Amino acid sequence: MSGRGERIVMVTAYDYPSGRLADAAGIDLILVGDSAAMTVLGHSTTVPATMEEMLMLTRAVSRGAERPLVVADMPFGSYQVLDEDAVRNGVRFVKEAGADAVKLEGAGPSLSRVAALVGAGIPVMGHLGLTPQSATMLGGFKAQGKTAEKARRLLEDSVALERAGCFSVVLEAVPAPVAERISDELAIPTIGIGSGAGCDGQVLVLHDLLGLYSEHSPRFTKRYADIGAQIQNALERFAADVRSGAFPAEEHTYQMPPEELETFLSSPTPPARKET
Ligand code: KIV
Repeated sequence: MSGRGERIVMVTAYDYPSGRLADAAGIDLILVGDSAAMTVLGHSTTVPATMEEMLMLTRAVSRGAERPLVVADMPFGSYQVLDEDAVRNGVRFVKEAGADAVKLEGAGPSLSRVAALVGAGIPVMGHLGLTPQSATMLGGFKAQGKTAEKARRLLEDSVALERAGCFSVVLEAVPAPVAERISDELAIPTIGIGSGAGCDGQVLVLHDLLGLYSEHSPRFTKRYADIGAQIQNALERFAADVRSGAFPAEEHTYQMPPEELETFLSSPTPPARKET
């Protein structure tokens, strides 16, 4: 697609309905992001996400999404120690959860993880710039690569990830001109989030674009709907209907043949159950 000059669209999804809807909307790639730790599991960072949680979410998304490429985010701790861990966990995402590819963060030690995963036949997407799993090391959720030296390091890391075998790299919260230069220098596509229009594609976190998560809202997200308010409104109306007796109505209830009902209603009260 990037060869044809077509912009690539990626979105996160964490369950079967969102996988189905992203597929139906013609989204190209679905990322089962470890942002799930925050958006659906209620943690304050992505760090607590576990392999078992990410596998469960990836399975659900894969069941719903047939056409888009499903990329599973490798959670913190699943690839930081050894290449063998990365391969073992990457294999689980592909074999047990139906992922087409995995994503991991950083360069440095991650380069040999990428090579090991690709060597095992698992496509890998890189992730540079603001890498949430190491946000503490980066001084918080802040834009990255804002000095010439740091921008140069990002360019070098991007090239190193491409050489290690990544098929694409996410650039998060990187100044637009830096992301544009990186995108120009790489043969593989870049997917930007908060990194400007010069990337080959864009990704947003589903719950940010739907208005379902407002605890942490970076300036680079764009809200396309206010589903959170709609859900709350629907729940308030449901509660009011139950409390007033307006729900359930006749059309929501099952009936039985009148003779069966008569027999049932005239049957004797059962004896009290004996305590055992
Ligand atoms: O986990 C996630 O949602 C991500 C995106 C922000 C790229 O890594």
